[in-house]
Amino acid sequence: MTESGRLFPLVIRRTEPAGYCTAACKSIGVGDDGLTYILKRVADAHPLIPVSEWVCTKLAEHVGLAVSPCHIATLPGGERAFASREEGGLMDTDAAMHLLEQPEALRPHLPALARWYAFDVFTYNVDRHIANFLFRQGRMGMALMGIDFSQALLTEGWPTVGIPLPTCNTSHARRTFEAVLPYPSAEAAALANRLAGVSDEWLADTLSPVPEQWLDARVRTSLIRWWGSARHKRLSLLHKHFASGRYLRILANPRRS
Ligand SMILES: Nc1ncnc2c1ncn2[C@@H]1O[C@H](COP(=O)(O)OP(=O)(O)OP(=O)(O)O)[C@@H](O)[C@H]1O
Ligand SMILES: [Mg+2]
Repeated sequence: MTESGRLFPLVIRRTEPAGYCTAACKSIGVGDDGLTYILKRVADAHPLIPVSEWVCTKLAEHVGLAVSPCHIATLPGGERAFASREEGGLMDTDAAMHLLEQPEALRPHLPALARWYAFDVFTYNVDRHIANFLFRQGRMGMALMGIDFSQALLTEGWPTVGIPLPTCNTSHARRTFEAVLPYPSAEAAALANRLAGVSDEWLADTLSPVPEQWLDARVRTSLIRWWGSARHKRLSLLHKHFASGRYLRILANPRRS
């Protein structure tokens, strides 16, 4: 069985240019299940993007954040690529933002926004701009999903990069929402607790299906070691400062813009 529960890995039958004016996503493809996938390849931009996308998406799902199902897919020709299933039923980003300017519309989404912020601080995701949320319409309301970990984790030098985040797209988006209503700090602290509760074996298990071309064996070993040890120190610091609200209020490192 594969990492995503399928008996066989997802095979992408056909690809085409993505047509997005974006940095890291160059192609989309249709899988052997007939669904469309957003693809990220080692050669597209930064070579560590596929592994960063894989680990972040799996970790977010593991701690209860809404993400699209993802795969380590095989492209025509045999290359392995990160594949995120295209979500349907999306609201236009501008329309969603217009709606969320109303406090009553924003309020139900504040717990998810605070949890995403905590997740992004932990994974050093500096690119959580508004369009890196999907606003998905369901029969019982709109839900926020997280996509795009192309500027998080290994592409940014994680785990040795400092915390909290610099001034960046992630802190700008937080300020946009917080101009309407403040984030609940208890939700951010609870997410740090959840991340601390992830097993020490989790990263090794999650990296085991990752191809060698995506991640050098030596880096893999040192990351796995970090996950079982220094991760806990980072998370207890995050928990403390989220609980007090400090990491939700300050821009600690304004050098980077
Ligand atoms: N799972 C998904 N379902 C539907 N649409 C998606 C999904 N993942 C990505 N997209 C769409 O594809 C676009 C590009 O994907 P993504 O944001 O991952 O790439 P990027 O090149 O890293 O973007 P950025 O400009 O933010 O750096 C997104 O803005 C979104 O419109
Ligand atoms: Mg994006």
